[in-house]
Amino acid sequence: MADQSHYDPSHPINGLKPLSNGDGFSLPLNQHDDPRLQEYSDAMMANGLPLEEVDDDEDEEDGEDDYVAVDHDDLNEYPYWFRRPPVHHRSKLDDLHPFVQILTESNVDDCVAVEEAFPEHERCSREKFQYRLGRCPELCLGLFTLPILDQGEPKPRPTLVGHVIATRVSTPHVTDKSMELPANWKTERLTVVDGETVGHDETGTSIAVHSLAVSSEHQGKGVGSTLMKAYIQRIREAAIADRIVIIAHDHLVQFYESFGFTNGGPSKCQFGGGGWTDLVLEFNTEE
Ligand SMILES: CC(C)(COP(=O)(O)OP(=O)(O)OC[C@H]1O[C@@H](n2cnc3c(N)ncnc32)[C@H](O)[C@@H]1OP(=O)(O)O)[C@@H](O)C(=O)NCCC(=O)NCCS
Repeated sequence: MADQSHYDPSHPINGLKPLSNGDGFSLPLNQHDDPRLQEYSDAMMANGLPLEEVDDDEDEEDGEDDYVAVDHDDLNEYPYWFRRPPVHHRSKLDDLHPFVQILTESNVDDCVAVEEAFPEHERCSREKFQYRLGRCPELCLGLFTLPILDQGEPKPRPTLVGHVIATRVSTPHVTDKSMELPANWKTERLTVVDGETVGHDETGTSIAVHSLAVSSEHQGKGVGSTLMKAYIQRIREAAIADRIVIIAHDHLVQFYESFGFTNGGPSKCQFGGGGWTDLVLEFNTEE
């Protein structure tokens, strides 16, 4: 192989003739041939730096070329796009694959089971469920769960996880009479005692919630709040009442206030031993 350390432009290299404009131009082939490079290399080594780590000016200029000034002034015009996409963490409620549905007399057994969430003396009896679900099913809502099914697997009966059971009442709060079971409910359409309707009052413009319950194994998963929100939304959108009323013990007052109920003070109801607070959610308050 030809010795190329001393390049002579008048001689071909590897059989190739040099370009004509290379005549008279001498190309240094390594740092030993260029005294400036040699000096530079010596200086770098004296500083303890190996030659490879030295950036020349050309590289710095390249870096400057990469810099692009970005104007963020238009950010406020596109606030939706300039955000991270929402991350949805699956909750315990999602795992239930929940759906809400009006309850009917066919759900009496399901409701009796869910009602066990209450202490015994506050529970609604089987007969009261038969009465309420038969008389005003449109005011009773259930949250059900269904397991994910494999293809071809027979669909099981949905499981009731939580319920809201209500009747109509003519007063702006829950009364003991509205919570009672009319004596002859199977044969009489309307029962009035001392001028007050017992049980469901078809002409009442308040909806009295007598039971919000979630089966104990599914409490704390957001079932109760989801069900209550769904219930309020349905009643509000259907515009079938002036208000929803409920009685609750003190520890749940805040829970109901979070849905927009206002604290009406101590209730006169003596059901289950008393000690209740009236809560009222008024619709159309602006009118
Ligand atoms: C009250 C009940 C319906 C709540 O249902 P749930 O599915 O357990 O409630 P959620 O998971 O939706 O919880 C919603 C909020 O209410 C609060 N809450 C639920 N039960 C509560 C209780 N017993 N005491 C105080 N706060 C309670 C939770 O802390 C939660 O607040 P957070 O979101 O800040 O954590 C349910 O616990 C139940 O059936 N209890 C027995 C029956 C009963 O008392 N019903 C109410 C009649 S007025």
